[in-house]
Amino acid sequence: MKIGIIGAGDVGGTLGKSWRQRKHEVMFGVRNLQSQNVQRLAKMDKSLRFGDINEAPTNPLTPDLKQLALEDTSVAERIAELAKGAKVVKAFNTIGAKTLNNLTFGSDRADLFICGDDTPSKRVVGELATDIGFDVVDVGSLANARMLENLALLWIELALRQQLGPNIAFKLLRRKADF
Ligand SMILES: NC(=O)c1ccc[n+]([C@@H]2O[C@H](COP(=O)([O-])OP(=O)(O)OC[C@H]3O[C@@H](n4cnc5c(N)ncnc54)[C@H](OP(=O)(O)O)[C@@H]3O)[C@@H](O)[C@H]2O)c1
Repeated sequence: MKIGIIGAGDVGGTLGKSWRQRKHEVMFGVRNLQSQNVQRLAKMDKSLRFGDINEAPTNPLTPDLKQLALEDTSVAERIAELAKGAKVVKAFNTIGAKTLNNLTFGSDRADLFICGDDTPSKRVVGELATDIGFDVVDVGSLANARMLENLALLWIELALRQQLGPNIAFKLLRRKADF
């Protein structure tokens, strides 16, 4: 598959490398081709491609990482409003970048919560997530991105302020009804 990634930072860089290793075509849209991030990635994997971009990343956090910067909407919905006709899927925001390299926790795989209004697009994103080791949980429509953006806040609170560190991930437990 052809995958375009905005930014070559921690999240984008790690996902891009993982998908490239699984033979997808990966192109990073970056604002500075000379940045350390770009240079580091280009050195690690010569098959990664880089180009121009004038879009922005995915979690609307305040600078202190304690709150969401948007009220009554989500950045995913804002992107959908701005990018008319685009099929927006919210994903990859409820787990730490460093964990994306290894999504196995004992006998479990980390869950990836995704949402969006276009079912085929969600299927594609779900397959890309499964490809790199996630279990995928469909959370419904794009409006539910508000929940996922709050879930990111919980991850940050646990990892940073409650000092659990980055080796944590969310998992939805399931069982057959016993009542
Ligand atoms: N880090 C995590 O564990 C984590 C987990 C879940 C979700 N997220 C979310 O994922 C997003 C990226 O996080 P990150 O940790 O990967 O950040 P990062 O390492 O700082 O990387 C951000 C990337 O976005 C680019 N960028 C920033 N502003 C831009 C703009 N106005 N135009 C074009 N490119 C721009 C940066 O380009 P330059 O290299 O030119 O600065 C950089 O490549 C954030 O929304 C974050 O909230 C992060």
